[in-house]
Amino acid sequence: MTNKSEIKVTFGNRGYVAPVIVGTEGEHAVDIRKLRAETGFITYDEGYGNTGSCESAITFIDGEKGILRYRGYPIEELAERSNFIESSYLVIYGELPTPRELEEFRNRILLNAGIHEALRTMVAGFPMTAHPMAGLSAMLNALGCYYPELSSNNRKQDLENFDRTTTVLISKVRALAAMGYRYRNGLPVTYPKRGYSYCENFLHMMFSYPGEDSQIHPDVAKALDTLLLLHIDHEQNCSTSTVRMVGSGGANLFASVSAGVCALWGPMHGGANQAVIEMLTEISESGDDGTKFVERAKAGEVRLMGFGHRVYKNYDPRAKILHAQCMKIFDAIGVEDPLLKIAHRLEDIALNDAYFKSRNLYPNVDFYSGIILRALGIPVNMFPVIFAMGRMPGWIAQWKEMAERPGGRIYRPRQVYVGERERRFVPLMERVAAPSANA
Ligand code: ACO
Repeated sequence: MTNKSEIKVTFGNRGYVAPVIVGTEGEHAVDIRKLRAETGFITYDEGYGNTGSCESAITFIDGEKGILRYRGYPIEELAERSNFIESSYLVIYGELPTPRELEEFRNRILLNAGIHEALRTMVAGFPMTAHPMAGLSAMLNALGCYYPELSSNNRKQDLENFDRTTTVLISKVRALAAMGYRYRNGLPVTYPKRGYSYCENFLHMMFSYPGEDSQIHPDVAKALDTLLLLHIDHEQNCSTSTVRMVGSGGANLFASVSAGVCALWGPMHGGANQAVIEMLTEISESGDDGTKFVERAKAGEVRLMGFGHRVYKNYDPRAKILHAQCMKIFDAIGVEDPLLKIAHRLEDIALNDAYFKSRNLYPNVDFYSGIILRALGIPVNMFPVIFAMGRMPGWIAQWKEMAERPGGRIYRPRQVYVGERERRFVPLMERVAAPSANA
């Protein structure tokens, strides 16, 4: 390192002076954008654990200390004093809204809840057994077809219409999630009611029966609201990077978030909340109290789902808040879940075990979110859908930041090729099968 603002690296007889970028929280990054042009070398970073793909002013995480802030505000304070819609506004527009801005934002979300009748027939075209995440991704992309003026793939036009697209997406992701559930359960589609909060309306749209008033427990709506708030953004995770990657090619917001849903679905990412419940159920049904499962995880046979994180090497602050929320909701609605006992036991064993301690494996956001969602009556295969609803404002904010960046380039990593060197084409009749390994 030559000084605080640049780093000199030598490649054979060629030197490269890399400027150092320093973030507002003092994080240092080596700028290697001209490395290949000047030296012929690229960097190799499978899984991007050391790669900063962008500068971002949205979310700050200090994984060593267990800190998470949206636009500078600590997550603990937002969870305590804000709500999902207000924090969504903050994440998207950078500042907390004034009362008038918040009212207007809420109204636009409420007014955009309607779903085109043709989209309803599309939902009915899915097999009843289809996973809700497959349906959600397809429906979000299809939704763009009903708003050609908002999904033009003309960057200037898509940005001019950004405010409208934002409220269409935040409103309709909720409507599509609820509509899929109603369809799978043979129930008619329900529309939101004026006067209900975002989460009260979601519960109403999911669970109300025709002709009956909805019975929405305020603690249930509050628990869901906090859960969504905690999921709004988490810097350059797998699905958010996907949204920025798809958008960097010029794709509109509908297409970009639809891809985000697919990226989120996997069990190592947003599908982990579903995987946690499946794991706890398996442990419970096998008569294990968690001890045997932890041994299998240490032997590398299984992973302890809901544990570990690429960035957090400390307790995930969202998991702490959700755990407290989890205890509160069980008290409030007076239910007991045997899986909670197993979760506590697993956490105890893992936090005191050398394998987990040495690898800094702590519960992440998904460890308790599934137990809360189960208590709220959400079916297990919809857990990642709830995650997607929560993450939607974050994806939108990240897409906007990417799209507005002057001179922003298409995301296009390089690779180290390890395949065959150049070879001659062999005509079909001259090809002989390669000897098999067991021959
Ligand atoms: N259970 C047991 N061992 C684990 C776990 C786990 N959940 N997670 C990591 N490890 C071990 C690995 O086997 C590895 O051990 P080794 O050094 O002996 O090879 C070490 O810890 C480091 O693990 P990596 O896989 O290199 O960590 P990475 O940062 O790539 O993965 C991830 C992070 C995907 C979250 C991982 O911890 C995991 O699979 N966790 C379970 C799934 C999960 O809960 N995902 C949700 C994450 S939060 C979110 O996306 C919203």
